Amino acid sequence: MSSHYAIILAAGKGTRMKSKLYKVLHKVAGKAMIEHVLTQVAQTMPSEIITVVGHGSKAVKAQLGERSSYVLQEEQLGTGHAVLQTRTLLDGKNGETLVISGDTPLLTAQTLKDLFEHHARNHASATVLTAQADDPAGYGRIIRNHLDAVERIVEQKDATAEEVKIQEINTGVYVFDNKLLFSALSKLNTNNAQGEYYLTDIIEILKNSGHTVAAFQMSSFEESLGVNDRITLAKANCLMRKRINQLHMMNGVTLLDPASTYIEADVEIGNDTIIEGNVSLKGQTKIGSNVFIGSGSEVVDSVLEDNTKVIRSVIENSILRKGANAGPYAHLRPKSELGRNAHVGNFVEVKASTLGEGVKAGHLTYVGDAKIGRKVNLGAGVIFVNYDGKNKFNSQIDDYAFIGSISDIVAPIHIGKNAVVAAGSTVNQDVPEDALALGRARQVVKEGYAQRYNHYHQNDDE
Ligand code: UD1
Ligand code: CA
Repeated sequence: MSSHYAIILAAGKGTRMKSKLYKVLHKVAGKAMIEHVLTQVAQTMPSEIITVVGHGSKAVKAQLGERSSYVLQEEQLGTGHAVLQTRTLLDGKNGETLVISGDTPLLTAQTLKDLFEHHARNHASATVLTAQADDPAGYGRIIRNHLDAVERIVEQKDATAEEVKIQEINTGVYVFDNKLLFSALSKLNTNNAQGEYYLTDIIEILKNSGHTVAAFQMSSFEESLGVNDRITLAKANCLMRKRINQLHMMNGVTLLDPASTYIEADVEIGNDTIIEGNVSLKGQTKIGSNVFIGSGSEVVDSVLEDNTKVIRSVIENSILRKGANAGPYAHLRPKSELGRNAHVGNFVEVKASTLGEGVKAGHLTYVGDAKIGRKVNLGAGVIFVNYDGKNKFNSQIDDYAFIGSISDIVAPIHIGKNAVVAAGSTVNQDVPEDALALGRARQVVKEGYAQRYNHYHQNDDE
């Protein structure tokens, strides 16, 4: 491919989204639409990518950062006017220019490459990417002549009753000879139903001045889907989910019910991992090989190393080292780490804590702001008391310590290696290595006193 430029149109308001969030920042599979577009465009290796920004320009720039240059379209006078804003950067340059919208998140780099190839093969001055739509409503229609060559594009609002029936649509993606693009842009006018400078009119302008105009029809309409409202946004999410899930399955991941498994775009998964239905894997999550993730689990921005297992649990911004497992009904809150083969079970919550290799916390435990060594056992109902209403405090428990059930570990505190805390203790002083700590009231037994309460008589004969 010869040297080329890319323009991403992203200045429109997105009125039909009825949103405070600027349209191209709405997410598909967890990633802003414009991110998807930029990622694919970048794979065609343009020498420069220019994004036309207007509404929400600050937010869009913050999203894309240095991966794009920017021009500001202060008033949104149409797609042709938007492209014209790039003239300060592109006018007079040799080469081809790709124009694409920021609201078509499903388009792939492969299709863009095919479009460039078609353009070159036909020695065209402009090539429009088209698709055959079952329901073309809302899109511009491709008007071809009796020789099947493209004549022009007509917007739905300007189309005659006959033209509206045409099912070949304009995807809003084009390749232009850069110099001819800018000379044609200066000839645009606003004589149309929307009073806008339509980029689509460039096709007719170039054709009428004797230049070769081509159309490349892609095989999948779905890939060209433009998101203008929440209904098409849902459609895009659904299609993207299917695409992502298929890719993982092709890479050796078992999805037991792909229709109900939601995996965001940046998630990585190793082979021989098994994922049940109703699972959400989000953000920058990395999952190793031979992992099992049971139904009802949500994993966000986390790392699950090889051979880990998560059953009906929520894992946020945490790490499970090899062989560790969580659940059922565990909640790992941010900055938690389960060491190799560690286990947290039923109704265990962990926050900002590191559990060493082989640590076990099987039932009803809260671990907060703690550093726990190897093979420590936390009995049922152990609670780390890390908050006094104002400040958070840290705990440290060293290797092989054994914490009896229903103990309160009042931070700040240090429990030494091999130490034992008796069940039911409230521990608010450090426990040295190898020591036993008992922090509970001594039991009192009063013979015969139970009769006073008479309760066993009541239970008889009823
Ligand atoms: C446009 C095409 C239509 C095509 C469809 C494909 C025109 C006139 N129409 O219609 O033929 O079928 O895309 O999805 O081009 N934008 C600006 N500045 C503006 C106006 C728009 O930057 O002044 C940006 C928008 O942010 C958006 C893109 O251009 O990312 C397309 O604009 P939109 O209003 O969505 O055009 P459509 O009506 O979808
Ligand atoms: Ca659109």
